[in-house]
Amino acid sequence: MKAKLISYTDVTVPTPPYKKSTKSGIVEDEKGKRQLVGIDDEHYNILKIGMEGRIEKRVTDFGEFNFFVPEIKEKKEVSKVALITGATRGIGKAIALELARKGFNIVINDLELQDAGAEAINEIKKGGREAIFIKADISKYEEVEKMVKEAVEKLGRMDVLINNAGMNIDRLLINMTPEQWQKVIDVDLTGTYNCTKAVLPHMMQQGGGRIVNVSSMSALDGAIGQANYAAAKGGVVSLTKTIAMEYAQYNILCNAIAPGCIRTRMTDAMPPGMLRERVSQIPLGRRGEPEEVAKLVVFLVTEGNYITGQLINISAGEYI
Ligand SMILES: NC(=O)c1ccc[n+]([C@@H]2O[C@H](COP(=O)([O-])OP(=O)(O)OC[C@H]3O[C@@H](n4cnc5c(N)ncnc54)[C@H](O)[C@@H]3O)[C@@H](O)[C@H]2O)c1
Repeated sequence: MKAKLISYTDVTVPTPPYKKSTKSGIVEDEKGKRQLVGIDDEHYNILKIGMEGRIEKRVTDFGEFNFFVPEIKEKKEVSKVALITGATRGIGKAIALELARKGFNIVINDLELQDAGAEAINEIKKGGREAIFIKADISKYEEVEKMVKEAVEKLGRMDVLINNAGMNIDRLLINMTPEQWQKVIDVDLTGTYNCTKAVLPHMMQQGGGRIVNVSSMSALDGAIGQANYAAAKGGVVSLTKTIAMEYAQYNILCNAIAPGCIRTRMTDAMPPGMLRERVSQIPLGRRGEPEEVAKLVVFLVTEGNYITGQLINISAGEYI
């Protein structure tokens, strides 16, 4: 049924289904009858008093409620935006390239651009998508906040966050200094918190978002010499589950992945004997490629609309 918008508010009210709060408004239908309706977050910013639209009845498991859907005269196609941390090389770079192929505009974050990052930006632009580099240390909240503000100013949106940046300082716990412990926790765990906190308001306002946190098999198994790394990546899993629970009501889904042994600078740095020994324990008998991890991330972001709060293992059977 057609309707005209009489008033609206951004104060969210609990409407059926009572698990959700929605922005709301008053509309007048063709017969002059006024009623309270829900308004989707994605429509809120384009509302004007007197605007025409239609009343849409939504039936959910919890009951029925009417929503106002404004009539959008000319719909401009806007590309979604993905921010990938630590994306100038390795797994992050592969994720950035793969998401660009799927039509996302890309923000590449890292400590430095490096040649490989510049190459990625050129490749994305050649493919017809926007790509920008924003330097920020994810362990510092002020830098992350500035990065997200700049990303939204330049690309207009924030739809996907891939918390990929990470580092390790490996040694037995007995030899690990408090500084070495803290540094890895600050980057791998606090960095994930920082970036998530900074993007959430934008995703909530836009009506949804997708977050993928790159954890590790060390989170599941522990790892000798990686007390700081395993604790941080384990924390990332618990953080993922909590984010999933808190923000599902805003259509923000959050999952984690646990890559096994992937061919990047991180595993190139292993002593050759140790790397050979590890690969010999992988049922598929080889390291994974960053592109293989990127395909899983792209699936979660573009297809996984009924998956949240999960840790997905990608290790060729190294963890069963
Ligand atoms: N390679 C593997 O086998 C493997 C396995 C499991 C998990 N992981 C995880 O995958 C992610 C990517 O790892 P990779 O193998 O591509 O490693 P990599 O070292 O090639 O890439 C990590 C990137 O993160 C960036 N980075 C580090 N600290 C940062 C900070 N404070 N702020 C911003 N950027 C920062 C680095 O500069 C680098 O470009 C990491 O979180 C890592 O822990 C990797």
